[in-house]
Amino acid sequence: MEFILVTPQARPAVALIQLNRPKELNALNLQLMQEIRDALKALDEDDAVRVVVITGNERAFAAGADIKQMAGKTAIDMLITDQFSTWDQIRKFRKPLIGAVSGFALGGGCELAMTCDMLVASETAQFGQPEIRIGTMPGAGGTQRLTRAVGKAKAMEMVLTGEFISAQEAHRVGLVNRVVPVGQYLEEAYRLAASIAAMSPVAARLAKESVNRSFETHLDEGLHFERKNFYLTFASEDQKEGMAAFVEKRKPEFKGR
Ligand code: HXC
Repeated sequence: MEFILVTPQARPAVALIQLNRPKELNALNLQLMQEIRDALKALDEDDAVRVVVITGNERAFAAGADIKQMAGKTAIDMLITDQFSTWDQIRKFRKPLIGAVSGFALGGGCELAMTCDMLVASETAQFGQPEIRIGTMPGAGGTQRLTRAVGKAKAMEMVLTGEFISAQEAHRVGLVNRVVPVGQYLEEAYRLAASIAAMSPVAARLAKESVNRSFETHLDEGLHFERKNFYLTFASEDQKEGMAAFVEKRKPEFKGR
C-alpha cells in the first residue's frame, strides 16, 4: 500500500485505515481508491475485525478526487477507466464503517465520508461538494447521498454553489453523528467503534444491511427485508447468548456465530 496505512488491530477488534497523501491533502487518485477497496475487502474477511475506522489527518480527510490526474481526461477515458466500480465495491463493505473526519472533506472526499455508516467530525471539519467551481459536478454519489442525508434545499445549495459547511452545521443537518475538539476525533471514533464491536457482529451486519436497504426500496419491501434479517438473527449463537446473558444478569460475549 503506497497511499494508505492499514492497522488491523488499532484497538481490540477495530481496524484503522488512514489515508496517507498528506502533501496533496489526501487527494483521491485511482490507486488510493483501489487501495481502500483492497484493504476493506481484506478486513471484511478478517474475523478478528468487527468495525473499521477510516480517517485522514488533522488538515484533511480528503480534498476530493485528484484534479491533476483528471484534468486532461476525455469522457471516453473516464468511461473506460470506470473508476466507480471501485467505489461500488467499497460501498458493499459489510461491517460497520466509521469515518473520523478532520479538516477538508470535499468533493470525492465528502462522498467517501458519506459512504461511511457514521461520522465523527473534529470542530475544524469542513464538508463540501465544490466540483461546480471547476466546471463539473459530483460523480461518486454526492447528489444522491447528500440529498438523502441533508434534504434537497441544503444539498442543492452545496452542489450548486460549491460552498462548504462547518462541522457544526454538518451536525445540525444530520450529516455527522458527533463533533468533538480537534485532538479527540480519532479517539471518539474508536470509542464509538468499540461500543459497536462489543455487539454481535452477525446482528450488526444484518442491521447495517437493513438500514441501507431503506434507501433502496419502498416501505413494504423494506419492512419485509428487515423482518427476514430479524428472523435470521435467531439462527445465530449470538442471539442465544445475548438473551441468555440478559436473563442471567451478566454481560454477553458475542462470537460472531
Ligand atoms: C489534486 C489537490 C487537491 C485535489 C488539494 N490539492 N486538493 N491536488 N486534487 N483535489 C493539492 C494542491 O494542489 C496543493 O498541491 C496541495 O494539495 C495543498 O493544497 P492548497 O490548495 O495549497 O491548500 P489550501 O490553500 O489550504 O486550500 C485547500 C483547499 C484547496 C481549499 C482544499 O486545495 C482546494 O480547493 N482543493 C480542491 C478541492 C476540490 O475542488 N475538490 C473536488 C475535486 S473534484 P501543490 O503541489 O500545489 O502544493 C472531485 C470529483 C469527485 O472530487 C468525483 C469522482 C470521485
